[in-house]
Amino acid sequence: MKTNRWQPEDIKEAAEALKAGEVVAFPTETVYGLGADATNESAVRKIFEAKGRPSDNPLIIHVSNVTQMKQFVSSLPEEAEQVIAHFWPGPCTIVLNKKGALAPSVTGGLSTVGIRMPDHSVALNLIEATGVPLAAPSANSSGRPSPTTARHVHDDLDGKISGIIDGGATGVGLESTVLDLTDPQKPTILRPGGISYEELTDVLGTVYIDTHLKDKTHAPKSPGMKYRHYSPDIPVYILPEDKVSAEDVLSKLHTQGETIGLLASDELNEHFGHKADVVFSLGEREVPQQAASRLYDGLRELDRSPATVILAESYKPVGIGLAYMNRLEKAAEWIDRSL
Ligand code: TXA
Ligand code: MG
Repeated sequence: MKTNRWQPEDIKEAAEALKAGEVVAFPTETVYGLGADATNESAVRKIFEAKGRPSDNPLIIHVSNVTQMKQFVSSLPEEAEQVIAHFWPGPCTIVLNKKGALAPSVTGGLSTVGIRMPDHSVALNLIEATGVPLAAPSANSSGRPSPTTARHVHDDLDGKISGIIDGGATGVGLESTVLDLTDPQKPTILRPGGISYEELTDVLGTVYIDTHLKDKTHAPKSPGMKYRHYSPDIPVYILPEDKVSAEDVLSKLHTQGETIGLLASDELNEHFGHKADVVFSLGEREVPQQAASRLYDGLRELDRSPATVILAESYKPVGIGLAYMNRLEKAAEWIDRSL
């Protein structure tokens, strides 16, 4: 299949492709999504096919307004209304009991659905022009780091999808927070993301964090969290926080003949950069939003570089740092880490 390269002014063409049951990648404020008409089963299946995604991992549906959302949830608890009022459009997905004409594959056999309204004009205009909610996972090959530029999408999916709308680099750089409100008394974060735990507790009071995220022996409630995720082809290690141990790790990897790609803040790069072979900047240490927005690009760039391993810096797991560490740990846990 020839993949069209569209600009934001070509939204009509992209919407026509979506109405015809094709899949199209588009920018959101978090990462690029791979969209299909959420009410068209054969279109939604094409998403799973293009990404190589396991079919029991449900997709988020993207709406352009709250009225559209109400067609697909059986009730809207007050907690959901509060989240919507504070954080929509924005990077917070709400999981509620579903109703209506969604394609069965969207929810992977569950009775619930994840919904969000993206904070990006291209995404919102595209949903409006198509007239239906768009089911859209991140537009990467399953298991790879999510795409934050049109080029990342192209690298993974060219020839497998109908088109890509190039809206430049995304802002947040990590995916939305997934918040389960099926039990409104117990709002639970299934995946940390663009809206932080602290922001949610400010609005909702007590917010729970899915036990799987804290303790890996519990089965994950968000089906997507159990698969290989966010990983480049070369191994990723998390750099120990204290500088002496970090130094040891760098020496050890060099002794083992590895070519080291360092993914770290400017501050750390200044300290250790000369001991690495390739360096990618995560920005200022004190601004974790910069690290969040650069993480996936850094993993992909170092993967393409001569580096044979990636050593990545850890950040405090607060604010966006919680999502950053969640993704980094996932990227790293896939490999056997005996440093
Ligand atoms: O920022 C984002 O959320 C991006 C952009 C494109 O919107 N999308 C995204 O989709 O990250 P995806 O498919 O890569 O991740 C969706 C996550 C998965 O972890 C999935 O298991 C979870 O949301 N999810 C979706 N529906 C769910 C449901 N009904 N119950 C529990 N988890 C659900
Ligand atoms: Mg994804």
